[in-house]
Amino acid sequence: MVFDVRNLTEEQVYKLMISTIAPRPIAWISTVSKDGIYNIAPFSFYMGISSSPPLIAVSIGKKDEEKKKDTWKNIEETGEFVINVVTYDLVEKMNITALPFDENVDEFKESGLTPIPSEIVKAPRIKESPINIECKKFMILEIADMGLIFGEILRYHIEDSLINEKGYVDNRKVKLIGRLGGADYCFISQENIFTLKRPDKR
Ligand SMILES: Cc1cc2nc3c(=O)[nH]c(=O)nc-3n(C[C@H](O)[C@H](O)[C@H](O)COP(=O)(O)O)c2cc1C
Repeated sequence: MVFDVRNLTEEQVYKLMISTIAPRPIAWISTVSKDGIYNIAPFSFYMGISSSPPLIAVSIGKKDEEKKKDTWKNIEETGEFVINVVTYDLVEKMNITALPFDENVDEFKESGLTPIPSEIVKAPRIKESPINIECKKFMILEIADMGLIFGEILRYHIEDSLINEKGYVDNRKVKLIGRLGGADYCFISQENIFTLKRPDKR
């Protein structure tokens, strides 16, 4: 089949995009508002940009025509956030944090997750997540209805057992989650990992 996106509804285009840009990593972002309210939400329009400086980007929408999602607002106002990785055992709690809670609601309390202090930023880390990444706002571009948030990575907190001797996080040990189309997800499992060395120059 051939789809000319000009003849499709916004929903049809969205469905094609999220099921072809897949699997997507999930940035589970914890922030604190300028009034001190803790917030958590997952975002899968998320990617690495550069390693020097270490930059990531995440695309965050609005609640309605006017109001930015709480995560976008908090990052804009405080300049800080933490990315927590989502592992298979945390998916139910992640799903709760995707609900559209009011900005005055502490989403750690709603989801039963535990906030622990970060070392550089004011935003809390999620204790249950084995990898927390402290970030500061680098810049925000408003594109269409989205806030494309660029963040600079300041500090990684990684459980000791997950780092291998080569300096990688061992993806065989941590069951990272990926988002697919609709309500589908996948996770990394040992059987599905394969190694592909680059060929020597021809
Ligand atoms: C796995 C997953 C991925 C998501 N990815 C995005 C995303 O990339 N951008 C976005 O704006 N919303 C995304 N959402 C929806 C937000 O998590 C949701 O709107 C949330 O309530 C925003 O919370 P906040 O207002 O506290 O920031 C995603 C939801 C789920 C469950």
